[in-house]
Amino acid sequence: MQTFTLNKGLRIPVMGTGTNTYGKVNRDYMGDINNDTTELESAFALGYTLIDTAISYRNEGVVGLAIKRSGLDRDTLFITSKIPADDLHTKDEACIRRAVNESLKALDLDVIDLYLLHRPLENNEDNVRVWTVLEALVQEGKLRSIGVSNFDVNQLDYLLKHCTLIPVVNQIESHPGLWNDEIIEFCQKNNVFVEAWGPVKKVSDEAKFVLDSIGSKYGKTWAQVILRYQIERNVIVIPKSHKVDNQKANLEIFDFNLTSEEKTLIQKL
Ligand SMILES: NC(=O)c1ccc[n+]([C@@H]2O[C@H](COP(=O)([O-])OP(=O)(O)OC[C@H]3O[C@@H](n4cnc5c(N)ncnc54)[C@H](OP(=O)(O)O)[C@@H]3O)[C@@H](O)[C@H]2O)c1
Repeated sequence: MQTFTLNKGLRIPVMGTGTNTYGKVNRDYMGDINNDTTELESAFALGYTLIDTAISYRNEGVVGLAIKRSGLDRDTLFITSKIPADDLHTKDEACIRRAVNESLKALDLDVIDLYLLHRPLENNEDNVRVWTVLEALVQEGKLRSIGVSNFDVNQLDYLLKHCTLIPVVNQIESHPGLWNDEIIEFCQKNNVFVEAWGPVKKVSDEAKFVLDSIGSKYGKTWAQVILRYQIERNVIVIPKSHKVDNQKANLEIFDFNLTSEEKTLIQKL
């Protein structure tokens, strides 16, 4: 798997798997946890090493179980989790520390590769307050790197001006119809990698038609063209699928290059 090098020198796979409906009854985001590791097992078998979970998905324990069952060397994996932006988890330093300790315990890991503030808090000062504790947890060796998620330009700009450790990643929604190019450009100018969530969701039939016609030249589908487009512009992608065929197809994007004309067309979708 290709990697990008984050601003602290840590290497992150350019593609990972999302997990927000894994290990749940009826593959429903709100479903009860059933500890089903089927999709994580197939993801590992196919070669995914970046796994994106979160406290709010309630399935860090499922990810931990799958890691254990996989028998894979811990150091070959890149595990991301996220702290929710609510009072329970961020009200004070003790809450933040408890949240991180609970993530570590659920994942059964000594250190988490990337930990994100899942959403911005109500004001910029609060973001900095939480960030400072996360920075301390990096120094203490519990988190290998830290980042943010769903931050807009203003929120990220403020944090950049008040942090010691620059966020390595801003995980944001990005797909045709909502590329979010302004924040992507701002992140890239400031050495913050962008990770696209929902990369193949909510894609209109019109966009799929255009993307399929581009992909036909390379024997690729609309979804593969989107993922290729994102990694060619240095955006990390974390598509999620409950189907082995789609999990496999999403990895098969490293044997073609889009032309600049095709990229211009895709950018307009
Ligand atoms: N930071 C945040 O606030 C935030 C918010 C949302 C999500 N996330 C993270 O981002 C991950 C990905 O986002 P997401 O799960 O919402 O959406 P997504 O991965 O873009 O889309 C998932 C949907 O796409 C389908 N799919 C996947 N690969 C496909 C392919 N090759 N061809 C056709 N259909 C395909 C899946 O269906 P099948 O199962 O039928 O293949 C599924 O219905 C999440 O799982 C989560 O880890 C983060």
